[in-house]
Amino acid sequence: MFKEKVILITGSTQGIGKRTACRLAEQGAIIIINSRSSDKVEKTVAEFTDHGFTVFGISGDVSDYLFCQEMRKQIISHYGRIDVLICNAAIAVEGTIADSSSRTIELATRTNVHGSIYPAMALMDDLTATKGSILFISSIAGIVGLPGFAMYSCTKKAIFSVAESMKNEVVDRCVFIGVCLPDFTENEDSKQIMTINGELKTLVKRNGIKTVTLDRTAKCIIRQLKSKRFLYFTSLRGRFMYEFYRFFPRLLLFAMKIKRKQFMK
Ligand SMILES: NC(=O)c1ccc[n+]([C@@H]2O[C@H](COP(=O)([O-])OP(=O)(O)OC[C@H]3O[C@@H](n4cnc5c(N)ncnc54)[C@H](OP(=O)(O)O)[C@@H]3O)[C@@H](O)[C@H]2O)c1
Repeated sequence: MFKEKVILITGSTQGIGKRTACRLAEQGAIIIINSRSSDKVEKTVAEFTDHGFTVFGISGDVSDYLFCQEMRKQIISHYGRIDVLICNAAIAVEGTIADSSSRTIELATRTNVHGSIYPAMALMDDLTATKGSILFISSIAGIVGLPGFAMYSCTKKAIFSVAESMKNEVVDRCVFIGVCLPDFTENEDSKQIMTINGELKTLVKRNGIKTVTLDRTAKCIIRQLKSKRFLYFTSLRGRFMYEFYRFFPRLLLFAMKIKRKQFMK
């Protein structure tokens, strides 16, 4: 199904994006690797090439619309088309609203919201031409506002809402829009999180939180692309949380209140 499909995965030099890229490349897709660090892009492209995959790297910041337009030009001049866009690049953000600096609020919004919308805007006409797909990667943190991770939840809920609007906006264009809500997933050692001052620090391993493997998350993303289901979860916990919030929002908010110390420590 993905043989020779041109697939751009933003933020694909590590973690969920990279594992998904690898699994899609194994199925014959032409993968476009992206992240801000040109070193990481070059290293990932070299790794994929060594495996015999067809891959092309474009380094740059997807929260910059001019870069997204430039990225589009490069993809179209290389391959003449694009079939799938996975808006995966994002940054984890910690801290309460009261403690956060305005810099954190702005950077989190730019990276996670603008950084998902701009690639979709830049590539929409090309995806219309191929009747392609756009998959947004949100999070179970986008179901209910987590205490101590307000901006992360806020931006991931925003992405869910963007996907809901776009799903109906693009009906006449025949572009598939989906949103995936991964559960806590195992992290690369290099995963970073934004602090209340807008700085990045390495995320220490989460203790006491059950995580989903990178492989399972990648498989779920690929299954969602195949089945064209609008909403997809990578765990039963995610599905349960979503349904529970739909029917008993006050109860879930109450559960968050009880658990707040665990989240805010
Ligand atoms: N890990 C989890 O537990 C979990 C759970 C639910 C949802 N998610 C979501 O899944 C996605 C991937 O998460 P992950 O844990 O795999 O992330 P990660 O390990 O932190 O990797 C993020 C990737 O995005 C790139 N990136 C960050 N900002 C960028 C920007 N402005 N422009 C281009 N690339 C950028 C990073 O590389 P550079 O630094 O080189 O730019 C990196 O390649 C995110 O949307 C995240 O919110 C993750």
